[in-house]
Formats: sequence, structure tokens, C-alpha cells
Amino acid sequence: ARVRVYKWEVKYEYKSPDCYKKLAITINGRTPGPTIVAQQGDTVVVELTNSLLTENVAIHWHGIRQIGTPWSDGTEGVTQCPILPGDTFVYRFVVDRPGSYLYHAHYGMQREAGLYGAIRVSLPDGEREPYHYDYDRTIILNDWYHKSAYEQATGLSSKPFVWVGEPQSLLIHGRGRFNCSTMDAATCNATNPECAPYTLTVVPGKTYRLRVSSLTALSALSFQIEGHNMTVVEADGHNVVPFVVKNLFLYSGETYSVLVTADQDPSRNYWATSSIVGRNATFTTPPALSVINYYPNHLRRAPPTRPPAGPVWNDVAPRLSQSLAIKAREGYIHAPPAASDRVIVLLNTQNRIDGYMKWAVNNVSFTLPHTPYLIALKHRLLGAFDQTPPPENFDPAHDIYSVAKNPNATTSNGLYRLEFNSTVDIILQNANSLTPNNSETHPWHLHGHDFWVLGYGEGKFDIEKDPKSYNLVNPIMKNTVPVHPYGWTALRFRADNPGAWAFHCHIEAHFYMGMGLVFEEGIDRVGKLPSSIMGCGKTRQFTSP
Ligand code: C2O
Ligand code: CU
Repeated sequence: ARVRVYKWEVKYEYKSPDCYKKLAITINGRTPGPTIVAQQGDTVVVELTNSLLTENVAIHWHGIRQIGTPWSDGTEGVTQCPILPGDTFVYRFVVDRPGSYLYHAHYGMQREAGLYGAIRVSLPDGEREPYHYDYDRTIILNDWYHKSAYEQATGLSSKPFVWVGEPQSLLIHGRGRFNCSTMDAATCNATNPECAPYTLTVVPGKTYRLRVSSLTALSALSFQIEGHNMTVVEADGHNVVPFVVKNLFLYSGETYSVLVTADQDPSRNYWATSSIVGRNATFTTPPALSVINYYPNHLRRAPPTRPPAGPVWNDVAPRLSQSLAIKAREGYIHAPPAASDRVIVLLNTQNRIDGYMKWAVNNVSFTLPHTPYLIALKHRLLGAFDQTPPPENFDPAHDIYSVAKNPNATTSNGLYRLEFNSTVDIILQNANSLTPNNSETHPWHLHGHDFWVLGYGEGKFDIEKDPKSYNLVNPIMKNTVPVHPYGWTALRFRADNPGAWAFHCHIEAHFYMGMGLVFEEGIDRVGKLPSSIMGCGKTRQFTSP
């Protein structure tokens, strides 16, 4: 195994990913940042210098479990203090499994300022995937706002509430197109090469493994390639029973590999597009366009056809059926424990607290403490966070189909303490938001673990009946999973990774508004914490001379 050392400088720069010029957070001048390429068992070292001048930063390695290195998870407030401007922080972790992963900022709402990228882990020499492909490509999908992350965060925490709204553009690997026609060229320039569409050149007859992922701030997406089928073979780093789709649905935080063969008329190019589903963005956010360029046609030759439209935005059925189609591939099945030791039911609701708009779980809206949990727990810093554990269930009389009669919630930074090595079931229960006849899709992401996806259902979860329908034979393991509108999703995981781990909705604004929580397990087994993660809140005592 090798050690792969990356030196990154993070700073603000003017960028025009969708032709509109704004400040973006870059890594070594780029957004998306460089793809980390490693082999299973390698150690990745990222020496991160914060050149943001007036903002802290932290970067999370999404999908990497950080076994033995919980302090490298990069979650500000959970596993580390923020990295101050001018400081260099060293992340060091082992990539212990092959597959497609991500990284992104985990401080405030900086992810949507452009601080994100991909991690690609290959198999050890001599081992092969159970499917064939000729070339390997990485495509990150995103949505893009013209307001700064700061302005959005301020709006979300203001009275009256200022919602972020639908994004101005969608990006395909950092490129999109905003309609500049009414703007001056200094602000928005349609001929800027930075916003030329992303192009993937393919050789006729060859098969491409596309590692497609989403790091949207808000949107659920559909990705489609004109005239081509996609065979899904990987989800969040795990091999799946292959299935063919025309559009691939992705929720923020998910990664998929699809196989695409360049088997169409080679005399022309084709569109690949992403479009919003799950929210009505028909009049606000046009689909993103990219080009599949059949070699040797010219790269910039537009396809002669109209770009394919995405599916109808409000049709949940095909999205639910994709979720249900994802199963662990034969030969790669990790059987889940047959039963769990504890069941935690989490009601997802939109709430109000003192007139502020929030999201909450079991009517508790999460806030990050000023002293990171990992350090507070390990060093027994009492008073660093709320000692009352949050609720494990909700009022059985709650009607998930209507606006809550009492939308008030409380805030807390209490955490769920799990017995080390126990098996935990999580039921994510969706409900109506504060808008009548509206229930949103929430992609939940767990740090430090993969979970088995035991099942999805519509309506209110029935603890007597629904567990009988769990897939205990070949459930997929994932790190991010949607809970569909008015539905439930059942997960199981082993609390076998000592540390403190966030579990939250991956919609940037929802997490910011309190849609998350933290698990602790095996804190006594965590090794000596590096002093580089300290310096804030009650941890200052460990860093002062
Ligand atoms: Cu990719 Cu805590 O997030
Ligand atoms: Cu959400």
C-alpha cells in the first residue's frame, strides 16, 4: 500500500461555472477540486491550507469510514474544531475499500460555495470488478446558486425567514449554463470557456464506467444520456445486482457507477442532461447539458436533436422503484444481523421555534455545539453539550399526512449513545411539511458506517407488520439513502466504529436548519486525539501552553 500525499490550498476565487461570475471556494484553483485517486489499503494524506482570509473551513471524506481515525472525519463541531484562516491541517486516513466516494466542506454551508470533489479507490493489483469496462470516468452533479453561501445561511436563520429557493443552474462536473441575455458581459458572459459544456469523448464500441454522483445543495436529480441505456453496477461503493435504467435518480450524497456502451450512430454527438425531480423547478432551473462526443466528431459539434427532457418532476413511483431495485450483488453480499438490539424511529418534520423556521427529528431541531463531541466525550468535558439524550420515537397520534397541529419544536445538541458493537435499526419516517399536501424527499447520510437498507414503505411505519417485509437476504449497504415523500425507510447498522458520527439530511439548508443528529459509540476505545483538532470551546485548555 502507498501513501498518497496531496497539498491543497483552499481559497475564494472568481469563477463562472454557469457563465455567471461569482466567488467560489476552490482547491488549488479548481472547483470541483482534484479527484483523489488511490488503491484499496492506501493512506491518503491531505495537507490543507486555509487561505480563505476570513472564514474557517473543514473537509469531510464522504463514504470513508475512518476506522481508527475518527478525528479525520472532517465534521466541524463533531470531530474537530474548525481550521482557522492561515492554518494548515493534515487529514490522514486509510481508504480500506474500493469504490466511488466524495469529499466536501463540512462547515456552515461552504459545500455549496464549490468546495467538493471525488475520491476513486481502485482494487488491489490483480483483482478485478465483476463487470467489464474499457474506461473509467468521474462525473459529479451539482446545483448552483448565485447568492453566496453566507447570504443564504443568514436568510435561513433570519426572522422573517428567507428561503434559498430553487438553484439558478445545474452543473455537470462543474459546468452549467445560465441565461445571460439580460446581463452585462462582465457579470455573465455566455462565451466564457469556463462554462463551455462538459464533454465526454467516447470511442465507438467501447464501454465506459461512469462514476456519477450528486452533491447538490437542495435538488434531487435525474441523469440521462440521449439514446443510451445505463447499467447500474455500483452504489455508494458496493456492487449491486445490475439493472438497466434510462434515467438515473440521484439524491445529494449518493454515488453510482453505471456502464454505458458507445453503441449508437457514431457520426454524431449526443446529449447527457441532468434535471430536477421532486420539486417543481420547471420555471426556475433549466436542465444541465453536457455532450457525449463520439470520436472523431468535433468536440463542440452540437447534437442534431433536442436534449432529452427529464421525467415528470412529481412522479414518485419511478424513484421509489429505483430505490427498491438496488440490491447487493451475488458474491458481494454482507448478510445483516438477523435482529437488532435497539430501534430508533425518527420523524422528519418542518417546524417553528420562536418564529424561526427549522427542520427537526422527533421535534428536536439539532444544533452543533461549540466544543466538538469527539473531544468532549473523550476528555469528559461536562457541560460541553446537552446531557439529555434526544427522543427515540414520536407521538403515535401524529398524523403524517397533514400539517402538524403544533409545529413548535425545541433545540438540542444532545446525542444518541450506542452500546459498542450493538445492532441498531433506524426508521426514517417522513411526514407533511408546513405546506399543506407537501412532503419532501430527504437524503440521509451516516458518517463512519455503511448501513443495510432493509426496506422502504409508504405511509406510517407499522412496527408490528412492516419489519416482516425487510430484505434480510441481499440488502444493499449504503451511506446515503432517501426517505421518500410520506414514506419510511428502514436501516440497520452495527455500532462498531469507535467515535462520534453525524447522521443528517444531506440537503445543505436542511442540516443547517437542524435536520441531523449525532451517534456516539465505543468512545473509550478511541486512541489519543491529535491536538490539531482542538483549540475551540472547552478544548482550549489542551492547546494552551
Ligand atoms: Cu456528505 Cu455530513 O456529509
Ligand atoms: Cu432534508
